[in-house]
Amino acid sequence: DTISGTCPVATGNGAAALDMTDADLLRDPFRGYSLLRERDRIVRAVYPTSPTPLWLITRYDDVKMVLGDQRFANNPGSVPGANVDDLHDELAKALGLEEKYIKIFTSSLLDADGEDHVRLRRLVSRTFTARRVAALRPRVEEIAARLLDQLGRRAEADDADGVGVVDLIENFAYLLPINVICELIGIPEADWPRWRQWGRAAFSLEPGAQNEPMRGMVDHITELVEQRRAVPTGDLLSGLIEAHDEEGDRLTGDELITMVLTLVLAGTENTAHMIGNGTLALLTHPDQLGTLQADPALMPAAVQELMRWCGPLHGTQFRHAVEDVEIGGVTIRQGDRLMCMLVAANYDPRYFSDPDRLDLRRQPDSLRETHVGFGAGLHYCLGAHLAKQEFEVAFSGLLTRFPNMELAVPAEELERQNMPGSWRLRRLPLRLHG
Ligand code: HEM
Repeated sequence: DTISGTCPVATGNGAAALDMTDADLLRDPFRGYSLLRERDRIVRAVYPTSPTPLWLITRYDDVKMVLGDQRFANNPGSVPGANVDDLHDELAKALGLEEKYIKIFTSSLLDADGEDHVRLRRLVSRTFTARRVAALRPRVEEIAARLLDQLGRRAEADDADGVGVVDLIENFAYLLPINVICELIGIPEADWPRWRQWGRAAFSLEPGAQNEPMRGMVDHITELVEQRRAVPTGDLLSGLIEAHDEEGDRLTGDELITMVLTLVLAGTENTAHMIGNGTLALLTHPDQLGTLQADPALMPAAVQELMRWCGPLHGTQFRHAVEDVEIGGVTIRQGDRLMCMLVAANYDPRYFSDPDRLDLRRQPDSLRETHVGFGAGLHYCLGAHLAKQEFEVAFSGLLTRFPNMELAVPAEELERQNMPGSWRLRRLPLRLHG
């Protein structure tokens, strides 16, 4: 019952480590991490960008515990005795990033712990509210409608016989989230094409390739911050500038820039791949698609089930034990790295009956969101409300505009990006018929 012959897995301190880039595991992480969850519970693993092995947390209960517990820090610098300079060097080496951008990467919400995190989260939450997201909906619908029109035209143009094949990832899934986040922040529409390029380039895995987009984004935000300080416009950027707590504490200039970048980087790639994964799931489950088409009111529940079943993130950011902690009979030592395997938790049969089945009518145990596709606890996704709204608008728009769309290649032939911890399609060629 090993994951593959070349991939030894064992439990406990000092055991042989799992290779997370193992081909079988990348091909079917659902089966692989479920096997590991049931057999080992806590798994020692090697991850490409981590110089030391990780502990993978696989059970739903353990994942919830780790993500809600301050003994597991996001920032490795929070571990007593950590050498922050060495950590920055390690990151700079892995990404080829210039020092000033490393500072931005390491001071975001996702890298803050304890009081620092609470403070940043409180300030951004003053203005990135559910109300602001709800008010944005008509604009999201407008942006999506325009992109779907373009998609239809592109399919016609690319295909002389009129069957209209088009790649949904490149021509829709990537475009909607970046346009929406630009609209939310208050980036003028004329600049969106630049942001689309920067946003994509910032995810390049090529060492050093992230410096130029970072420079572009930082310079442009700096310029916009100056403009909004002079004349506030009611957009999120103006809100972030004005946000303060009871004591008058505000985000500093650097923090504002980091916050805007965090929203752009955290809010686009995952959302794009959720649109891809969700569309594929619906197209390969015609009964479920039919159920949703017959009952559009099911959409919010459907989005939750799709997030559980095929969310784009299979693992969280690294966590770092600030002290020795025992989980499931394994001692995690101070300074050890962990990753919570959301994919394993979301298929944990202790919480989800018949977890492999996609069931858009699945009733959660309570009104509470039960899946952990958006994380949980202290760093629970700040943009979950926006992401859910974008999926609802995207899926509704696609199903209404192209009700007969179908896969243009067999599902087995679709390729994924080979990145452990994420679940992303390279392309999703569709025949639109309309
Ligand atoms: C955090 C998933 C969309 C902003 C997280 C985390 C997850 C997640 C799992 C926690 C990571 C961890 O604990 O290590 C997703 C997925 C998305 C999505 C799957 C889309 C399908 C968005 C959007 C935004 C956003 C649209 C913003 C507009 C953030 C931010 C954090 C975060 C700022 C850090 C929160 C904190 O550290 O307190 N997201 N997210 N995300 N997400 Fe999302």
